[in-house]
Amino acid sequence: MDELAQKIRQIPDCELFLDHDLTTYTTFKLASKGDLIEVKSVAGLQSLLKILNLSNRGYLVVGWGANQILPSECHDLIILLNFPFNKQDLNELKDHYDLPASLGLNHLTSCAVKLGLKGWDVFTGIPASLGGAIFMNAGTNLGEIGKLVKKVTLVTPQGDLREEIISDESFSYRKNHFVKPGEIIVSATLTHFGVDPLIPQKIKDYLEYRKSTQPLATKNCGCVFKNPYKSLPAGKLIDLLQLKGVGLGDLRISPKHGNFMENKGQASWDQFKSLVELINFEMDHFYGIEFELEVKIPYN
Ligand code: EPU
Repeated sequence: MDELAQKIRQIPDCELFLDHDLTTYTTFKLASKGDLIEVKSVAGLQSLLKILNLSNRGYLVVGWGANQILPSECHDLIILLNFPFNKQDLNELKDHYDLPASLGLNHLTSCAVKLGLKGWDVFTGIPASLGGAIFMNAGTNLGEIGKLVKKVTLVTPQGDLREEIISDESFSYRKNHFVKPGEIIVSATLTHFGVDPLIPQKIKDYLEYRKSTQPLATKNCGCVFKNPYKSLPAGKLIDLLQLKGVGLGDLRISPKHGNFMENKGQASWDQFKSLVELINFEMDHFYGIEFELEVKIPYN
């Protein structure tokens, strides 16, 4: 890493932290260590990716870390985007908004409340950065983010900028079909479906619903699994098998919502993997299905 570290330290707008405690960079807070780079400009990211790819070093972007698991020893380099943003840009009604990938969705929800933007209620309560939410086509029972995205700008592994014009084929349930291996989303153009004075109340009601059904005050990673069927969500299936509350060490399946796991303190990556295996063993045994993870895990 020494030679690579020296090169990275010369890139403007990039700050490198070696052997860093990464525990607090995910909302699940499983103990984790590794190398971290904070990147404060798109140009900085372009230079960084060029260098990383020439040196064959793996990397991974962590946004809000809400739907992300990091292993105890992270071999991939963790990239944290922190691009500048003028909050004034979200104060006025426009047809579309050009926004940085590092922007938190909470800013978009505030804008939706202020301006009554139809369709933007979909951001409500999703703890994510815009880039992370687009990458996984995040959604709730109010809809999916992909429906609002018009254009996405990415940095390629070679350090070039690439624009993707979004079509009906660009997204499916919790998936994008256009980010190529090694590419990183840096900004996006979002639209809306007009103005609706009922949006602020809709957002308020939805937040109440989430508060009453999900363990929001705990250390968790959002929904662990994708729903295998719309009519039979993962949380309901886990609930039907009476697995809520089942745990290993400091990790347990939430007693409040079956598709959440709670870290009560020192839960580990190994415990997470074991609990996922246990749930999938039970699912296979009783229903003949296995869940797919919604939460992102790096393989190392
Ligand atoms: N249910 C149970 N038991 C449980 C959990 C749920 O019976 O333990 C039932 C509920 O009563 C409801 C149905 O299952 O009838 C669906 O539950 P919920 O409304 O909580 O929605 P979900 O499908 O479990 C999805 C998203 C969540 C999002 C909620 C609410 C997925 C995988 N999850 O959950 O997103 O917050 O809708 O809009 O699509 C996330 O992506 O990280 C996430 C938490």
